[in-house]
Amino acid sequence: MLSGMPPAVVAHRGASAYLPEHTRAAYALAIEQGADGLECDVRLSRDGHLVCLHDRRIDRTSTGRGVVSALPLDRLAAHRYDRDGKAGRGPDHQSVRGFSALPEGGSPPPLAAPDLPDLPDLGLLRFTDLLGMVRDTERPVRLFVETKHPVRYRHLVERRLVADLSDHGLLAPGADGTAPVTVMSFSPSAVRRVRQYAPTLPTVLLMRSLAGRRRDGSLPPWADHAGPGIDLVRSDPDYVRRAASHGNDVYCWTVNEPSDIRLCADLGVHHIATDAPAATLRTLANH
Ligand code: G3P
Ligand code: CA
Repeated sequence: MLSGMPPAVVAHRGASAYLPEHTRAAYALAIEQGADGLECDVRLSRDGHLVCLHDRRIDRTSTGRGVVSALPLDRLAAHRYDRDGKAGRGPDHQSVRGFSALPEGGSPPPLAAPDLPDLPDLGLLRFTDLLGMVRDTERPVRLFVETKHPVRYRHLVERRLVADLSDHGLLAPGADGTAPVTVMSFSPSAVRRVRQYAPTLPTVLLMRSLAGRRRDGSLPPWADHAGPGIDLVRSDPDYVRRAASHGNDVYCWTVNEPSDIRLCADLGVHHIATDAPAATLRTLANH
């Protein structure tokens, strides 16, 4: 349903505009910046542990090389994960690449990220460590987990995910009735498996386009929310209304430009995933 509320701000891969993605440091900064939620991608190591990594290989983001699913946890953990090539480097956020994390007018955000060499939390982040962070935050912060789906492991990713959530007491809604964790995927079969293994977990079906999907905004019964990319929302803004008319919340990714943030707010998008939570919250506050 369209709520009239500003979108909840979900930190995409942590506060990844400011610090290396998927690191404990990036998630801690996102919480400090006031993000309502955290987004992370999960993959399975060769020995069956979920790790917070986006790519099939570790080459782009770490000091190592290799395919995540072919390496055991101890080999993955032997590297620093400070090389995503996108994060800001200290207070000079001009170095942020590929999007505008700066507020309009160009003045730097007031929150300066610490210099990278002083940060202790740039190692591999296990999914269970991130669950510990979410469970222990002073204010509630929701987690939006995206399962990547390596052909090698198929259903094992979702089975491990549900087991880890169960171990951390994060399958059931909290005291306020809100589910602490939502699971997302571009893979319909992955979302369907999550519903099968944990019927109470909210799910998002991510989509890059509406080709072959329900253009009227409806979703399959095993998906609770629609997850269009910002390109789709820009090209078909009415999709948000159509999804809401079917009772489906909309989670839009990855929204970094101030004009896109305002567009999502005007359309009544419920959640926006952004690399720059501080700048996004400021844009929403001034809108
Ligand atoms: O939040 C969904 C979004 O993260 C999907 O794209 O490539 O960043 O995982 P990607
Ligand atoms: Ca993702």
